Amino acid sequence: MYHAEITGWGMCVPPARLTNHDLATFLDTSDEWIVSRSGIRERRVSHVNFSELGLVSARRALAAADVDPADLDLIMLASLTNDSYCPNTASIIQDELGAPRAGALDINTACTGFLYGMHLCRGLIATGQHKKILLIGGEFITHYLNWSQRSSAILFGDACGAVVLEPSEKPVGLLASRIGCEADAKEAIQITNFGSAYERLTDDFLYVKWNFDGREVFKRAVKSMAQACVDVLDEAGVDISEVAVVVPHQANKRILDALAARIGVPEEKVIINVDRYGNTSAGTIPVALVEALEEGRIKPGDYVLSAAFGGGLTWAAGLFRWGDRVTPLKTSDAELPPCDKTALELLAPHIKRYQEYAEREKATEIREQSC
Ligand code: ACO
Repeated sequence: MYHAEITGWGMCVPPARLTNHDLATFLDTSDEWIVSRSGIRERRVSHVNFSELGLVSARRALAAADVDPADLDLIMLASLTNDSYCPNTASIIQDELGAPRAGALDINTACTGFLYGMHLCRGLIATGQHKKILLIGGEFITHYLNWSQRSSAILFGDACGAVVLEPSEKPVGLLASRIGCEADAKEAIQITNFGSAYERLTDDFLYVKWNFDGREVFKRAVKSMAQACVDVLDEAGVDISEVAVVVPHQANKRILDALAARIGVPEEKVIINVDRYGNTSAGTIPVALVEALEEGRIKPGDYVLSAAFGGGLTWAAGLFRWGDRVTPLKTSDAELPPCDKTALELLAPHIKRYQEYAEREKATEIREQSC
């Protein structure tokens, strides 16, 4: 049986920054409200398709591992905002990278996608079925937000990260993992008109609505992630005090604080970047992992604990043991094309569309009330 070692890592965030002050120019909100309720100060808005964020992340991860794309035997991509469903986005990346031997698989469990992917890849490498896997997690979510709904629009951003996994005989990589889903509460995070259900074929066609119960998600997120962390630590026989770094899903700073308190980890061990990127769904964990490595916060042999929750309501946790190498073998010169627009300019068509729709709805409501 092999262990799935992370031998390469890379990330890509688009350059255009959308600050809380930018949001307050068209939503009834404020920097003070957003920072105090979520810890978010700014997020990124992509000027390119999601597959381009994935490609740059992938090229950087492959260089860090010094793996030739032609040697990959699987590309797994976790996202809910793919370029297209047919061809799937992993196929687009397989072709662009030049990885013709690789299977190409998209998975979607929303914010838990990267950890669900790690859980699957660990099994595929353990059995010897795959030897070089590229796992990508990320999102192109700002272009799908409902820009008239202040409660959800302020929370999300675009970003992507990737890792290369290879077999090792040493006990490194993902030592223990758990995945699950509290489907009884699946309505707590719903993005309507964003799938093939009959409901989509109504007069609200293409008008995406983010219906979620923030408080319910908050409570369940802390509880389910904490329990999953306890379970993976138990399975691996590792005490929480031995964990060097926690890399949690970044949805809200207050959730991270509550999780750390519940599992008994001091704040300085928790990687936090939600202030700079917001919730990038399947992108949060690989991006936070790459930043932790680049900042020297993960050392050879460290235990790294990770947990996530998201739409479904899915949850996941994983305990990693880092290998000997915390620096890349090579670097890639892959870059996104330059962006000549501000984040507000990139989003302007969506904001206009949602504002016009909201005004029409309000006018109809007033007409109906006066009848
Ligand atoms: N600016 C100003 N006021 C706002 C905003 C805003 N952006 N959004 C909501 N408010 C108002 C509300 O209307 C409400 O006003 P009211 O009391 O007059 O009705 C008030 O602020 C309080 O709203 P709450 O929703 O109770 O605020 P809360 O403190 O719970 O924070 C938040 C909301 C940030 C969403 C929090 O609940 C949270 O982070 N929840 C979990 C995160 C989450 O749901 N993520 C979705 C994951 S999506 C996925 O996985 C794909």
